[in-house]
Amino acid sequence: MKIFLDTADIDEIRTAARWGVLDGVTTNPTLYAKVSGASYESILAEVCKITPGPVSAEVVAEDVEGMLREGRSFAKLAPNIVVKVPMSEEGLEAISRFAEEGIKTNCTLVFSSNQGLLAAKAGASLISPFVGRLDDINQDGMIVIRELAEMFAIHDIESEVLAASIRHPQHVTQAALAGAHIATLPFKVLQQMVHHPLTDKGIVQFRADWEKARATLASKKGD
Ligand code: G3P
Repeated sequence: MKIFLDTADIDEIRTAARWGVLDGVTTNPTLYAKVSGASYESILAEVCKITPGPVSAEVVAEDVEGMLREGRSFAKLAPNIVVKVPMSEEGLEAISRFAEEGIKTNCTLVFSSNQGLLAAKAGASLISPFVGRLDDINQDGMIVIRELAEMFAIHDIESEVLAASIRHPQHVTQAALAGAHIATLPFKVLQQMVHHPLTDKGIVQFRADWEKARATLASKKGD
């Protein structure tokens, strides 16, 4: 399973890239609002330079022509831009038009397997079910991931299932086991995946034992 960062924060993206675990990035208007201070386009251009894989940039227009205008302009920023389009009647039409133009899309705000199936048929490369937001309303978000992964395998559909709205490390494990091709994570979740209390404790213990052994050796030499 590929790991994307769900952020528009350049420092977080640089850090994950240095760790060698970054396959792509997803952004949206909410994530942009958290880091604003520069235009969305200039942040995207920077993100595209430091990200080895796809970078999703979300349109905010609600009509087809507006989505197409915004998406075409994002696509000119870098070759790894993927235009993120919300699931809607207009969104499906825009996805289909982008596919004809060779512009890759990520269909976002997917909450059911049937929505995901339609987005794939319209030509979206990435399908993003929001796991955490389904869990929030007492539905099992992981069911949509599992069903879409199975449907795409059974019918040889090339679109990839991207588990979004990931809230904690257990979601990542569950998404991988449910067959998600990609999970997009807040940086905090990526950090939580790195750490384990016994790992952190073990590192401190090894260091302490090393220092003790060196001190014993030094005192023997001094005898
Ligand atoms: O990838 C979608 C994500 O940004 C939404 O996450 O936590 O706001 O549901 P959340």
